[in-house]
Amino acid sequence: MRTQVIIIGGGPSGLLLGQLLDRSGIETVTLERKSKAYVLSRIRAGVLETGLVDQLHAAGVGERLKAEGFVHDGTVISYGDTQIRVDFAEHTNANVTVYGQTEVTHDLYAAREALKAQMVFDVENVQIEDADSDAPSVVYTKDGTQHRITCDYIAGCDGFHGVSRKTIPDTVLREYEKVYPFGWLGVLSETPPVHDELIYASSKAGFALCSMRNENLSRYYIQCAIDDSPQNWTDDAFWTTLRERIPQEYAETLVTGPSIEKSIAPLRSFVSEPMRWGRLFLCGDAAHIVPPTGAKGLNTAASDVHYLSQGLIQYYDTGDTGGIDNYSAKALARVWKAERFSWWMTSLLHQFPDQSEFDLRMQQAEIDFLQSSDQAQAVLAQNYVGLPY
Ligand code: APR
Ligand code: PHB
Repeated sequence: MRTQVIIIGGGPSGLLLGQLLDRSGIETVTLERKSKAYVLSRIRAGVLETGLVDQLHAAGVGERLKAEGFVHDGTVISYGDTQIRVDFAEHTNANVTVYGQTEVTHDLYAAREALKAQMVFDVENVQIEDADSDAPSVVYTKDGTQHRITCDYIAGCDGFHGVSRKTIPDTVLREYEKVYPFGWLGVLSETPPVHDELIYASSKAGFALCSMRNENLSRYYIQCAIDDSPQNWTDDAFWTTLRERIPQEYAETLVTGPSIEKSIAPLRSFVSEPMRWGRLFLCGDAAHIVPPTGAKGLNTAASDVHYLSQGLIQYYDTGDTGGIDNYSAKALARVWKAERFSWWMTSLLHQFPDQSEFDLRMQQAEIDFLQSSDQAQAVLAQNYVGLPY
């Protein structure tokens, strides 16, 4: 079998890339390790930058997002009972849309099926061969039978644990990583959100985040120990801890209820360079990971998809390889800025096990400066709504 672009991974990156390429007449085959149901069962963040919203509309999947997404023009940063509302509209000409990643994935799958996209699920033993040649191919097993697909290019959209990044030789690949000494315990509850905007709350007891999915579905997180387990937390213990970490006015009005999902995510910053090796391109979590504090995971995957899809469309339309030749440098330039913002938000708002009294005073001084400086709030707003592509 032969195709133009093989996409490894059917998560948000692979789905959006495939949809944009197919709609431009470029033939793709997507290989996904799990089932569609498994991919759709993942609970992930839900803050979309304008760039991603625009791409979803360009991919023909913007209708439900437009009807059900919540446009936010600001967010609240709190430190103890100090509250700072960062006004996106005052400092930028952009906003963010709150719409669960699960919904984005669901909409993309519906669109892929409508296009009769070539997608193979439950694949095993995926191997990339001859990526550094002019005749790359991918070998995989499906239902016990081995298959080979030859292609022009391979998009590695297979996430942090995928095969694509590992295909790049150690002599070529450079990796940068910071693992944070804590995790996030997240709860989904069928309760009205405590506030109509997100609240990033820091306190001496630790970090908490109040988010939402819709007017009766809330998403909350609390900083927890790196080796903690959801089984260690009753719902009551979660709600009590959340109340301790958010400003009093919200602690008093918080509506609690049974958790319908409870999980812990580790926090890490990670970047691998380059994002291209021969005819293999890395895209999204396959190349980089951010701590969720800046809501940049999905949004940085989206800018990768933008650069890669534009480069491939340019190549197939004109034969000009300028876009794909510049992909890695262009994508990484924006990736590192997202890494910086996510690291800064994480360092500012969390309690670190080994922090000194000086470190605490630095956090307090940073918060005081943010509260007193329009320019500081403008910098946060510009990064949060998304830097230009
Ligand atoms: N072969 C085929 N598919 C694979 C393989 C493999 N060897 N390894 C992993 N996959 C699939 C996974 O099952 C998953 O569905 O690749 C997909 C990768 O999806 P994500 O991990 O979601 O990464 P990405 O599509 O880049 O999306 C990034 O989604 O997970 C969040 O935090 C992440 O918000 C970020 C965004
Ligand atoms: C979420 O709603 O899951 C969410 C929102 C903002 C973040 C992280 C997670 O920074």
